Amino acid sequence: MRAVSLFRERFGGEPDGVWLAPGRANLMGEHTDYNEGFVLPFALGQGVTAAASRNPDRAGRRLTVCSRQEPGDTVEVDLDGLAPGRVTGWAAYPAGVAWALEAAGHRLPGACIAIDSDVPAGAGLSSSAALECATALALTSLAGLDVPRAELVTIARRAENEFAGVPTGIMDQSASLLCRAGHALLLDCRTLETSQVPFDPAAGGAGLLLINTRARHELADGEYGRRRAECEEAARRLGIRSLRDLTDLADTGSLTDPVLRRRVRHVFTDNQRVLEVVALLRASPGPSPGPSADTYREIGRLLTQAHASLRDDFEVSWPEADAAVEAAVGAGAYGARMIGGGFGGSVLALVPAAAAGPGSGPGSGPGSGPGSGPVRDAVTAAFARHGWTAPEFLDAVPSDSARQLSG
Ligand code: GLA
Repeated sequence: MRAVSLFRERFGGEPDGVWLAPGRANLMGEHTDYNEGFVLPFALGQGVTAAASRNPDRAGRRLTVCSRQEPGDTVEVDLDGLAPGRVTGWAAYPAGVAWALEAAGHRLPGACIAIDSDVPAGAGLSSSAALECATALALTSLAGLDVPRAELVTIARRAENEFAGVPTGIMDQSASLLCRAGHALLLDCRTLETSQVPFDPAAGGAGLLLINTRARHELADGEYGRRRAECEEAARRLGIRSLRDLTDLADTGSLTDPVLRRRVRHVFTDNQRVLEVVALLRASPGPSPGPSADTYREIGRLLTQAHASLRDDFEVSWPEADAAVEAAVGAGAYGARMIGGGFGGSVLALVPAAAAGPGSGPGSGPGSGPGSGPVRDAVTAAFARHGWTAPEFLDAVPSDSARQLSG
């Protein structure tokens, strides 16, 4: 394990334990979490691994972190001097988790943590939430604390929002800490109620392909905050607590601003699409034989419809994502859409097994999931035609949430 070898290299000796937290993809419900709506993410097989030990023999309580993905020295922080703004760069995420845990009353020992990740950074697959959740599990386990998962979700989110200063919703940390293999997680972002929805395409003759478009636009952070503000403004003008409270699109007549009307339409219809997908999956005979091709076709149609909504109404898509969706659907995918916050990152395609065959085009990634051959090739060809960096492909397999691997 590469996190363990990094630990040995940097800290000497063996770690007390190794913890893994997955990245996530989201089947449906984008920009709905901070509007108190519904999301339906699943955990990926790819994740962040943390090899960690207590360091009781040092003076004071120090948290020392290093990462295989971040060249440079280890970063050392004093647990007694943590405050938002004091730590910048990647180390703000693990340090923020320590800060948020202590702020919630959980006393931590000093620790050394070596990090490794196979979630591509900047691909919109929540590598930062995975880093937070792996750190949270490692630190609480080292402290001998048994903190409920639901509480760890809010602690990890607080680290991201308040310590790292990134104003995200609660979806990513929930997915990393609460998902189950072969399921997607239905999360009501108002009540924080969750339920597991059977979702195992590979068992039912379909596949999920992630297309990392390898594009990241400068706009990403500012536009995310702007969308949040627009949604809040729309809710205020409509006289409702949040866009979750809208029960009929016809009730938006008083909203005269065309931009706000489009934003509201996206959030409203995406919430509906989450519930439609859940109903389709729950109505299927599972786990075996699972949903029929017709059901996947219907889910695919909703995915592509969601992409159009994110592109035209919420205006967070980007050219590489639009081209990937078009090429994937043209090559036989049931449907596809951009996932995550937008302005860069990945597209998720639901692909029939009938189109099976390993990808052969340049840019085919290490994965070789069912039904991905023609779709990979079509997307790769489309990117080449535009002169864009070749996309990267990953198999998306609904996997288990964060866990201890050893120790
Ligand atoms: C990012 C945020 C999430 C969510 C998505 C959009 O991934 O971290 O909280 O808002 O964007 O659905």
